[in-house]
Amino acid sequence: MRVFITGATGFIGSALVNELLNAGHQVLGLARSDAGVKSLKAAGAEVHPGSLEDLESLRSGAANSDGVIHLAFIHDCSRFQENCETDRRAIEALGSALIGSNRLLIVTSGTAIVAPGRLSTEEDAPAVSSASIPRIASEEAAAAVAERGVRVSVVRLPQVHDQRMQGLITPAIDIARQRGVSAFVGDGSNRWPAVHLLDAAHLYALALEKGSRGARYHAVAEEGVPVRQIAEVIGRRLNLPVVSKSPAEAMEHFGWLGVFAGLDCPASSALTQRRLGWHPVGPALIPDLERAHI
Ligand SMILES: NC(=O)c1ccc[n+]([C@@H]2O[C@H](COP(=O)([O-])OP(=O)(O)OC[C@H]3O[C@@H](n4cnc5c(N)ncnc54)[C@H](OP(=O)(O)O)[C@@H]3O)[C@@H](O)[C@H]2O)c1
Repeated sequence: MRVFITGATGFIGSALVNELLNAGHQVLGLARSDAGVKSLKAAGAEVHPGSLEDLESLRSGAANSDGVIHLAFIHDCSRFQENCETDRRAIEALGSALIGSNRLLIVTSGTAIVAPGRLSTEEDAPAVSSASIPRIASEEAAAAVAERGVRVSVVRLPQVHDQRMQGLITPAIDIARQRGVSAFVGDGSNRWPAVHLLDAAHLYALALEKGSRGARYHAVAEEGVPVRQIAEVIGRRLNLPVVSKSPAEAMEHFGWLGVFAGLDCPASSALTQRRLGWHPVGPALIPDLERAHI
């Protein structure tokens, strides 16, 4: 297949480009800078110039492909809501180029937003709307283009890690360094699910090749790692004290990350594993953090 990938230059996108090229697919990667063009060419992908704000570039990339994987996102937390709405428009534009075809659009979402407080599964639609949790705009847009007849599936990601990056844990490490303590909220028993980068990339490839219309997939290898354990590894690695914060103190301590720090958001991937024959094999989160370049 010739696959159009947005976010092809990012952490997960770069791994996915390699995964798809190694599997014999062609990749058309969206790039918005000279550095992006260079890295895609070096990886062996074709380049499609454009950006999330240039909806025509997204439509033409999708129109020139046999399938689309949407991974790009503007990670500027100071304009989070606006960025989620940009994502909604991008998904609608990608989908509009696929109406009337059987070509798949894979949209990226997160496991954390599905059903905080209990184990979420692929059967769960988000419990609330984007009016309460802005990032749900991406799944709302997926549902809207599905209504227009587009073959869409959603991949929900937990903390995606290797030894370079570990999702929200990477900014948590910076905060610990700045504040001189590694913190968790309450007793730190709240859990974050996780997956190794290469397992996540492999899941996207399987979803592309075997995915069903309307499916949601959870790229989850570990259902829930207690956040206290994560804070303890950070403390040990940075030689800092590990402390508990109350929910009110957490907002002050963590800043924008405060809304996630105390979140208990375990997620299952039992259905994904069965439906796609996906079996994660990569290192677990704590061993990756123990060896992380921090
Ligand atoms: N990493 C995780 O643990 C995790 C967890 C849950 C969900 N996710 C989601 O997974 C997706 C990929 O995450 P990631 O970790 O790979 O992110 P990343 O490393 O920050 O990569 C973001 C990608 O989006 C592109 N991008 C940003 N702004 C753009 C714009 N205005 N126009 C076009 N492209 C733009 C970037 O291009 P440049 O290279 O040009 O900057 C880059 O390719 C995102 O939707 C993210 O929210 C990630």
